[in-house]
Amino acid sequence: MAVNLRGKSYLKLLDFTPAEIRYLLDLSKDFKSMKRSGVPHKYLDGKNIVLLFEKTSTRTRCSFEVAGRDLGMGVTYLDPGSSQMGKKESIPDTARVLGRMYDGIEYRGYSQQLVEELARYAGVPVWNGLTDQFHPTQMLADLLTIEEKFGRLKGINFTYMGDARNNMGNSLMVACAKMGLNFTACAPEALFPAEELVETCRRIAAENGCTVTLTENVAEGTANADVIYTDIWVSMGEPEGVWAERIKLLTPYQVNAAAMRNAKDTAIFMHCLPSFHDTRTTIGADIAKKFGISEMEVTDEVFEGRQSVVFDEAENRMHTIKAVVYATLC
Ligand code: CP
Ligand code: NVA
Repeated sequence: MAVNLRGKSYLKLLDFTPAEIRYLLDLSKDFKSMKRSGVPHKYLDGKNIVLLFEKTSTRTRCSFEVAGRDLGMGVTYLDPGSSQMGKKESIPDTARVLGRMYDGIEYRGYSQQLVEELARYAGVPVWNGLTDQFHPTQMLADLLTIEEKFGRLKGINFTYMGDARNNMGNSLMVACAKMGLNFTACAPEALFPAEELVETCRRIAAENGCTVTLTENVAEGTANADVIYTDIWVSMGEPEGVWAERIKLLTPYQVNAAAMRNAKDTAIFMHCLPSFHDTRTTIGADIAKKFGISEMEVTDEVFEGRQSVVFDEAENRMHTIKAVVYATLC
């Protein structure tokens, strides 16, 4: 059946069928090849989009900005420091105003409920640029990167190590279940994803011929993996005070040479970034001083090693975001 996403918001992958996700991945490949060969694609000339960021960003913001301009659109960036958003005007009020001026709205913030509410009121497509619960634009970049490296998605053994109940753990579990990858969350039980979402994903996985596994055992969780993925241990918006407990809980789940050795020889390492793999950041240096560790969720050796595909993955954010924007506005 033909896929038509025009006018639809992109809020979480649960709202999309495997055929729709496949369509977005194929479109991303087309845009990537056009960009690489210098073929202009200003298909949305004359349209305008606005990017609302309540949390900081490098990749997501720049991807929307470059994608928007490549498609011929005007792009406005707003954060709470340079607009009325949040302080003097609620997000739903802001969105209703912006929906009168723009053709689409990107929102990065805290609650998933809020981005869903925005989409109900805005009257134009809303794209979720990350909430505490989900990070759906990251998923397309991750799936595209895996497909580029292995030539397929179905049957890939995907292991996520670390905080498995954050936006990345949740989203990757959904993405794998939808697209036929065997998902393993390798994490302490305290940081397993919510049971209800696990059940939902197990039902979806059963329809797509794959599995969802949760394990605390690192040897079991990494054995036979094609992809080892991790994310930072403390996400944006979480209080500073959780660092000590997280470091204690997650140190056994650090992606290091031993974890990679236990996976397949052909395994790749992935990370949504930013990453604390050394002390060359203010937070990294601060944590080193307080806790005496110089690497966190991944060692510098793995991050910089031959199996790491993190910068291909980061580039793919732009091609895939372009596909989402185009498909929903064309
Ligand atoms: N991966 C990702 O979303 O990066 P930013 O926080 O820099 O946008
Ligand atoms: N879990 C991370 C993802 C960053 C892209 C965070 O929310 O900070």
